Amino acid sequence: MEMREQWRSRWGFVLAAAGSAVGLGNLWGFAYKASQGGGAVFLLLYVLIVLLVCLPVLVSEMVLGRSTGKSPLLAPIAAAGSAWQPMGWVFVFASCGILAFYAVLMGWTADTFFHSLFFGLPGTLDEANEFVGSVSTGSSVFLGQLFSLFLTASVVVAGIRGGIERLARWSMPLLFALVIILAIWAATLPGAIAGYQEFLFKVDFSQFSNLKTIRLAFGQAFFSLSLGIGIMVAYASYLDKRSPLPKEAVLISSLDTSVGILAGMVTFPILMSFPVAKDALGESFVKTLFVALPTGLSSLGLLGQLVAVLFFGLAFIAALTSSISLLEVPVSSLIDRFGWTRDKAVIFSSVFIFLIGIPAALSDKVLGNMASFLDLLLLLGGFLIAILIGWFASRVFDEDLAGCNSSFRGRRYLKFMLRWVSPPVIAFGLIVSLIDLL
Ligand code: PHE
Repeated sequence: MEMREQWRSRWGFVLAAAGSAVGLGNLWGFAYKASQGGGAVFLLLYVLIVLLVCLPVLVSEMVLGRSTGKSPLLAPIAAAGSAWQPMGWVFVFASCGILAFYAVLMGWTADTFFHSLFFGLPGTLDEANEFVGSVSTGSSVFLGQLFSLFLTASVVVAGIRGGIERLARWSMPLLFALVIILAIWAATLPGAIAGYQEFLFKVDFSQFSNLKTIRLAFGQAFFSLSLGIGIMVAYASYLDKRSPLPKEAVLISSLDTSVGILAGMVTFPILMSFPVAKDALGESFVKTLFVALPTGLSSLGLLGQLVAVLFFGLAFIAALTSSISLLEVPVSSLIDRFGWTRDKAVIFSSVFIFLIGIPAALSDKVLGNMASFLDLLLLLGGFLIAILIGWFASRVFDEDLAGCNSSFRGRRYLKFMLRWVSPPVIAFGLIVSLIDLL
């Protein structure tokens, strides 16, 4: 049998996994969701869900991949028998569905980047609307979507070390540096304090019983960590037995959450500092950032243009390290299940994903609905993982973690949370989200 490829180093894996987690969900989704009325309560719920529910599930997903050494499609069967086959399919379809609309969003990001670079920023509301029109409708959407999928496919075709790890190694440090610099710059804007207040400190306790706020917090936690969809199964299947998974999980989720908060500290001050930006808001939810940021920044002239180019360039690279992880799920599954070559699996999956993304490219309403629906699948996937590893294959969990010298107390804590806390809380989140969506 051919040897399974492995990450070159422990850091390669951590950066690739963090690269999957950090993406448009942080730079665009987090700010958008926090601005939907939840404010500080949204943020608090999000952090609690990550700490109490997602961390144990994240470790389990990695355990599932590493202990079986299989793709997301076959790992559940290898761990607990063929009754778990449907779970593998949920992973594969959810990844394809997410990448389908994600590639459209990436296309908008790329378009906004090129537009800001070559044609400058829109200064008035009319110009802003024209700007969005040219970025997110018509043929430029398809071009952007194709461009994004093509880049994604060319990284994945190059494999784990030569493609995914290589990209993550230079792009992730750059990304952290850029977002920190932008956050520091944004702190000097006149609307900085007002922006933080709007984003981080708007406290309204009635939000605890607002179904939408609860749904958004659950969705954001899972989406942002790339959780419940088999990505960490795929990535961890290329990992050696010594990496301390609980530590990696803590590292990955801290990086992810910090970038989300830092990104909010960039966008909200900009939105509050420039009145045109606020006027441009509200129009269509998914387009918020793509309109409001460039419009706000235009009043700073050349500096504003530089910031916009940096921000959208950054967003695109962050999105690319996420989209490659999404594509790796169907690709590794096809290789594993049908013995296909990597090239063939990449071409087949990319074409399929392009086709199912067409409706989202044509209508941002469809795109929004797809995103909300797929959040539910992530929760479902997370729930199934908790049940599988917590109850049906808990030996796998113990053995795998004992082998990588994680502390016994940490293991006991994780297992307890996995069995008794994650499943009911995720089930609650699923039910609330379903009720809210219907
Ligand atoms: N976590 C990525 C982001 O925040 C998106 C993503 C979701 C990637 C689910 C993979 C799986 O942008």
